[in-house]
Amino acid sequence: MIYKDKLIKDKIPKHIAIIMDGNGRWAAQFGNERTFGHEHGVEAVRSVVEGAGEIGVEYLTLYAFSTENWSRPKLEVDALMGLLVQSISDETDELLKSNVRLRVIGDVKSLPQNVQEKLDWSIAKLNDCTGLTLVLALSYSSKWEIVEAVKRIAEQVKIGQLEPSAINYDLMDGYLNTSNMPDPELLIRTSGECRISNFLLWQIAYSELYFTPKLWPDFRKEDLFEAIYDYQNRERRFGKTSEQLVS
Ligand code: FPP
Repeated sequence: MIYKDKLIKDKIPKHIAIIMDGNGRWAAQFGNERTFGHEHGVEAVRSVVEGAGEIGVEYLTLYAFSTENWSRPKLEVDALMGLLVQSISDETDELLKSNVRLRVIGDVKSLPQNVQEKLDWSIAKLNDCTGLTLVLALSYSSKWEIVEAVKRIAEQVKIGQLEPSAINYDLMDGYLNTSNMPDPELLIRTSGECRISNFLLWQIAYSELYFTPKLWPDFRKEDLFEAIYDYQNRERRFGKTSEQLVS
């Protein structure tokens, strides 16, 4: 089935988040090192960014490196950082042609200097793009992000700039790394694992979750369209009843 042709144009999610999982297992199938899987994961990233742009998704957030990933073997961490720098170098011109902006969420300052510099360079180059915003979650974890937000809110209260009674959902949204972005309507995780792994915990309160057994390096834009097709055929009730939604 060609899922792209079946999508309802005015029901395309504004924001899709993806937990790209299964690179290591994909590599193991071929008796290769985990980094071989990460390298092939870049092809999936390319395809999905292209697909999201084609159908008018506004934000695509990719979980590329979690806070917890720092505890992987140094060789793998170094390879992932190198791959990031290489991919950003290689892909920025193509992203510019496709009108894609780049944004990063996470503890950017904990990334190696050369990664930070490459990201700054690419973000600046793509600054005037008006199409898809590609959001890379790097050295990111949701609990870290929430704690950071709470610290900054507490600081404002301490210096008398904020009343505790003014703290509400909207204020909290503004203090998160994802400020000014809509919450993801759809969260996809590849590789058959059915967990959230500290990703966007606040923002996915009402997201639709989609789990696929496909390993990330095998995932392509057609798989993205299939996930969106599945999403479009769900009923999103936000705590209401089906009858209320009809009326
Ligand atoms: C999870 O698979 C994947 C990662 C930790 C890294 C994701 C990185 C990429 C796809 C490449 C670079 C990204 C960009 C944006 C250019 P895993 O290693 O946990 O796989 P496993 O569960 O099979 O071990």
